[in-house]
Amino acid sequence: MTSQPHGGVLVNRIVEVEDLSKQNISNNIELDDIAISDLELIANGAYSPLKGFLKKGDYESVVHDMRLSNGLPWSIPITLPVDEGKANELQEGSLVSLSKDGEVYGWIEVEEIYESQKETEASYVYQTTELEHPGVKKLFERPDYYVGGPIHLVKRPNRKHSEVYYLDPSETRKEFEELGWKKIVGFQTRNPVHRAHEHIQKTALETVDGLFLNPLVGETKSDDVPSDVRLKSYHVLLDNYYPKNRVFLAVFNAAMRYAGPREAIFHAIVRKNFGCTHFIVGRDHAGVGDYYGTYDAQKIFSNFTEDELGITPLFFEHSFYCHTCKAMVSSKTCPHDKSQHVILSGTKVREMLRNGEKPPETFSRPEVAGILIEGLQKVTP
Ligand code: ADX
Repeated sequence: MTSQPHGGVLVNRIVEVEDLSKQNISNNIELDDIAISDLELIANGAYSPLKGFLKKGDYESVVHDMRLSNGLPWSIPITLPVDEGKANELQEGSLVSLSKDGEVYGWIEVEEIYESQKETEASYVYQTTELEHPGVKKLFERPDYYVGGPIHLVKRPNRKHSEVYYLDPSETRKEFEELGWKKIVGFQTRNPVHRAHEHIQKTALETVDGLFLNPLVGETKSDDVPSDVRLKSYHVLLDNYYPKNRVFLAVFNAAMRYAGPREAIFHAIVRKNFGCTHFIVGRDHAGVGDYYGTYDAQKIFSNFTEDELGITPLFFEHSFYCHTCKAMVSSKTCPHDKSQHVILSGTKVREMLRNGEKPPETFSRPEVAGILIEGLQKVTP
């Protein structure tokens, strides 16, 4: 048995396209990249128990207390922003289509239109209002009014990658059941799998039945490794270094918020909806720059009971290779001096790869580095 969905029921707001033509649609909202990915993730149950974009009561409660107004843990506001002109046009109680580039993907039952509180949202969710923070920058770039209400999805968004990587929570749950997995650990990543990632995944795999490798492929900041390059690198790693029947790879088609601790809670809840019982949280999960403390994304879990979250976080210390131990270690397992440790920043590694230089084998498998070098040379930084 996989875990129960958050709130007890896996939401399904996917309907037939004919259902749209039967509705009395009075207006249209054009979605941005974040909103269209959120629309699908609400509709397919990845964001259960959400049935739509947040209304004001839930928004304020999520921002201030990391809970929906019914008390259920929820840490990132999932909102539908529109500009003031559109906000004035929309009528509460009306049905409004949701489109992107002229194509309609669904509709929303407009229950509320309200003004966002961006300063408050930024300082609670991101712990900063600095525009240098990529998540805060994005928040302030999006329009200022939010539309709340239940949604329906009539058409799947266009895919960046092969359709085989896009599974709904109902489908991953079925896969895990067929594989006979009872304990499933979810792994969020927006990076290639380097040795440290591999180390914590495999350490977790020693005690659970399967690993759900679930790279995020929605909007990321421009200097993150593009998801098509990453997908190639995951395959070369899985083919060469992981037992075939212990890992399941599918993408998480959400935007990266870089909200560190808040996003770790969100990431865990979503993976529970996909059927995971456990979730890995390592160093500076979903962090960016120096905005969050190394283990803040672990500490934040103490605000919730395990029952409330319904997924067990597995915390890992910062891990790295030690030349004296000749192994992947952390400060919990290695007594040696820093000079023995291979620690490279993400920025440094990306710079090496862009220059065609392989990071040491103790940092990244050579096959993975090869794919990354090839892939990154093709994209402009
Ligand atoms: S994230 O933004 O998706 O969190 P990344 O893909 O780098 O970034 O990390 C994926 C997961 O691995 C996160 O839980 C992160 O905390 C963990 N992690 C990354 N690097 C290390 C490391 N060197 N030691 C321990 N955990 C790590």
